[in-house]
Amino acid sequence: MRNILITGGAGFIGSHVVRLFVNNYPNDHIINLDALTYAGNLENLKDIEHQSNYTFIKGDICDEDLVKELFSTYSIDRVIHLAAESHVDRSITDPLSFVKTNVYGTLSLLEAAKNSWKDNFEGKLFYHISTDEVYGSLGKEGFFLENTAYDPHSPYSASKASSDHFVRAYYNTYGLPIIISNCSNNYGSHQFPEKLIPLFINNICNNKSLPVYGKGDNVRDWLYVEDHAKAIDVIFHKGKLGHTYNIGGFNEWKNIDLIKVLIKTVDKLLGREEGTSEKLITYVADRAGHDFRYAIDSSKLKNELGWEPSLQFEEGLKKTVKWYLENEDWVQHVTSGAYQKYYQQMYE
Ligand code: NAD
Ligand code: DAU
Repeated sequence: MRNILITGGAGFIGSHVVRLFVNNYPNDHIINLDALTYAGNLENLKDIEHQSNYTFIKGDICDEDLVKELFSTYSIDRVIHLAAESHVDRSITDPLSFVKTNVYGTLSLLEAAKNSWKDNFEGKLFYHISTDEVYGSLGKEGFFLENTAYDPHSPYSASKASSDHFVRAYYNTYGLPIIISNCSNNYGSHQFPEKLIPLFINNICNNKSLPVYGKGDNVRDWLYVEDHAKAIDVIFHKGKLGHTYNIGGFNEWKNIDLIKVLIKTVDKLLGREEGTSEKLITYVADRAGHDFRYAIDSSKLKNELGWEPSLQFEEGLKKTVKWYLENEDWVQHVTSGAYQKYYQQMYE
């Protein structure tokens, strides 16, 4: 049995990755280390929490003693590192917490892996999950490739870029077996409603205004979260050590166009007349340093490892909206308490 440490497994993407690994690999023991910040929620994993190949540990990746102890207690063979502060707007108001978790936390894990595996790196892997935002912003044309120079613009992307550099430094300096993947915007169930799609679904349901930054012209490349989890599975099992893989949906949307499709989808499922909620669209001040366009070229992953996104966007969006409408309790739980304060500071 292999022992796989997944960090941030109670968050949005992490919970989909944990579920996939626990269900598909009964001979692997999945140890989920998560601090349960505002973004982490054990309700996300209710369906698998009693499985015998799953263990949850509440803890901070910055706690070096805890991380070191976990490597020795569970004899960790492999790591999939997702834990992070992940929201760009929060990084603008509180950059230090991003440096702490995303940079220092990654270093704490790298050190534990290096020291615990130092006698033999055979069969070991430190797989670091990163973002396309490290590459900066594109104009109307072109795509991010694996060798595109890093040019992060927000405190979030700067902290992720820094962590990527440290992961590569451990490969070059110590020979630590690493892989990095950089993915585009994810959407799907269990995403905290501070990010565009779940925030807007929640606001449409509650007839609250939809705060569109700037003119709504910015472009993002959207990927269904379960397709990201499948890409992580493929890279984890077949990826080449030291390599980077870009993951994207080949699915670019201008924000305002996406918002209109989202409104249509939610209105329809709520039984409202088509387009009723368009009146909620409110143009607000732009995000500081707002990257114009992200677009990932994931042909390396397709050509070398055979992964492609499986779901059409409209279908994925419908599934996502349905999930939020059917899981009001989940939304209520995560939007009570601290969320209210965040929302007021951010939008009111
Ligand atoms: P998320 O914010 O939903 O979840 C982050 C998880 O990490 C939460 O469960 C949280 O409790 C945990 N966490 C935070 N700080 C921690 C700490 N110090 N110690 C232990 N656990 C901690 O994030 P997400 O959207 O699921 O993103 C997961 C990873 O994927 C991140 O590394 C992010 O940079 C990357 N990524 C996200 C996207 C996206 O569209 N969401 C796209 C590409 C890459
Ligand atoms: O590209 C990958 C990244 O995608 C991940 O690394 C990040 O963790 C993830 O949060 C996401 O970053 P974005 O900043 O692109 O996602 P967000 O959902 O915050 O915003 C998407 C777009 O919508 C962006 O252009 C800003 C805009 N927006 C967002 C919010 C929250 C609005 O217009 N209004 C809003 O209220």
